Amino acid sequence: LMNRPPIVAIDGPAGAGKSTVTRAFARRLGLLYLDTGAMYRALTWWVLHQGVDPADAAAIAPLLVDLDLQLESDAGGEQRVQVNGHEVSEAIRGPEVTAAVSAVAAHACVRAALTGQQQAMGQRGGLVAEGRDIGTAVFPEAECKVFLTATVAERARRRAADLAQRGFAVPPLAELEAQIAERDRLDSTRAEAPLRQAADAVELVTDGLGIDAVIQRLVDLFRERVPED
Ligand code: DC
Repeated sequence: LMNRPPIVAIDGPAGAGKSTVTRAFARRLGLLYLDTGAMYRALTWWVLHQGVDPADAAAIAPLLVDLDLQLESDAGGEQRVQVNGHEVSEAIRGPEVTAAVSAVAAHACVRAALTGQQQAMGQRGGLVAEGRDIGTAVFPEAECKVFLTATVAERARRRAADLAQRGFAVPPLAELEAQIAERDRLDSTRAEAPLRQAADAVELVTDGLGIDAVIQRLVDLFRERVPED
C-alpha cells in the first residue's frame, strides 16, 4: 500500500448518477470529493463568456495560462464553483455549457492543464475523484477504481428528472437519449484521454439500483480494496 491516504477513482458516462453517489460516498468515508467534470464545465463557461469558439484549441490555449478555478463545498455540502472570480455553480449545469463541454474537453492543451491541477489537488491522497479519465490518466495509481454506468434509456430518465428539479425545460425523452448517446460517442472516441474503463476498475451498472444501494456497493468495494488496519 502507498504511504498516503487512499484515492478512489470513479469514472463513467454522463448521467450514470456519478455525482450524487460519489458525493455521498466521499462524505461517508470522510474523503475529499473532486468533481473533475465541474472543472471542464467551468472552463467551458469561461470560454463561452469570452466569446471563444469551443472548437478552437489555439484560441482556448491562452485562457489556460492564468485560469483560476476554485472548487469548494459550502456548509450544506453543496459544491460551489468559481472561475476567475465568477460564481458559476448553477450556470455550469445549464444547456449552453452542457452542449459545448465535450468540444472543449477534447483539446490536448485543456486536458494537460486540468489533469495537472487535478493531480496537484490529489498529491496527498484522501480523495474521491469523479470523471471520465481518473482511473486511466489522472490517478492511474488509485487504490480503488469504479466504472459506474447505466443504459442510455435509464440515464435519459434521470437527466429529465434532474433538469425538472433544477427548473430547466425538459425535452422529450427521445431527444435526451440522442443527446446522451452523442455525448458518449464524443467522449469515448476522442484522441485525448477517451472515456474507457481502466483494466483494474470494477464495473457497476446502476439500472434499477437506488442511490443508497449504489453507495453501499461503493463502500463494500472500497473495504475490499483498502482493508482497514
Ligand atoms: O460529468 P460531467 O457531465 O459534469 O462532465 C462534463 C463533460 O466534461 C463531459 O462531457 C466530459 C468531460 N469530462 C472529461 O472529459 N474528463 C473528465 N475527467 C470529466 C469530465
